[in-house]
Amino acid sequence: MSIHNFSAGPAILPKEVLQKASEACLNFENSGLSLLEISHRGKNVIAVFDRAEQLVKKLLNLNDDYAVIFLQGGASTQFAMVPHNFLNTKAAYLNTGVWASRAIKEAKHYGETIVVASSEDKNFSYIPKGYTIPADADYFHFTSNNTIYGTQLRTFPKSPVPLVCDMSSDIFSHRFDATQFDLIYAGVQKNMGPAGATMVILKKLMLERIQRTMPTMLNYKTHVEGESMYNTPAVFAVYVSMLTLEWLDNLGGVEAIEKRNRAKAELFYSELDRNSQFKGTVAVEDRSWMNANFVMVDASKETTFNDMLKQAGISGLAGHRSVGGYRASMYNALSLESVQVLVDVMQTFEKQHA
Ligand SMILES: Cc1ncc(COP(=O)(O)O)c(C=O)c1O
Repeated sequence: MSIHNFSAGPAILPKEVLQKASEACLNFENSGLSLLEISHRGKNVIAVFDRAEQLVKKLLNLNDDYAVIFLQGGASTQFAMVPHNFLNTKAAYLNTGVWASRAIKEAKHYGETIVVASSEDKNFSYIPKGYTIPADADYFHFTSNNTIYGTQLRTFPKSPVPLVCDMSSDIFSHRFDATQFDLIYAGVQKNMGPAGATMVILKKLMLERIQRTMPTMLNYKTHVEGESMYNTPAVFAVYVSMLTLEWLDNLGGVEAIEKRNRAKAELFYSELDRNSQFKGTVAVEDRSWMNANFVMVDASKETTFNDMLKQAGISGLAGHRSVGGYRASMYNALSLESVQVLVDVMQTFEKQHA
């Protein structure tokens, strides 16, 4: 039976990427050696990093004003590294959930941290609108997709100050003008690859704003100048990311995947709105295409529904432990057919249990 992987992250990767990655584990590019046992300084590994960087720039239409680096420590280390490098006086943040709150918590170590708006009053079930970004802030930070709650910004605020975004859970999922951003970071383990690497895209001019003296590893300059190889990088995670970016490029890039993601979201949400047994948990206009959160109208029927999901081969649908209910994560590699299987189960459940 094929398994439909709706996991929120680490998450589904294209089958052909997994196939190529497993081959590289045994025999990387016919070298007779595993990718896991060779030096990151070798020509063929440097070529992987170069290709990953070039693909990121191609897919997001970025020129050489931007640097793309692959770091470790997860997106969570970026919560601290961003203010460590760029918060000189004060910074502005939008609070849309757990991850945004964690970023805010770290910023407070470095200086005044202004929360321009928050949706905490309604358990982060919507995206705040109509706020003002202070023109004298060092930067404005927000989270484009709130993985835990299932809300997303697909159009972005105009900012009078450098724009910084945590795109961990929706990078490369729809078209956007990446040049409006001064820094984007993303843990690669959702739309790009396995856990272990964090991608940072930054406008090189941002490096001139760094004033603090700091440990070498925490300075973005170190990693831009070292081309992600100041220390031993997460070679395998970057290789799998490179393969996933190649897969996306061959598919027709971000424009093509946007069509697929829109179709998946429309299929799922139209069933959610139609079906009497389920209901969504977030504001309709802020629904995420990547993580769709929902609950059962009668929670006592969850065990029956869970059994039906299992029988249909649906995996990873449980909501985050902090919110409960269900969460269908529909990242780039998830097919429309998998969403159809979920919709079919929801329809069968309604017929049998309404
Ligand atoms: C939007 C977002 N930001 C940050 C994180 C934390 O990432 P990491 O575990 O790589 O530190 C996550 C993890 O799920 C996330 O979804």
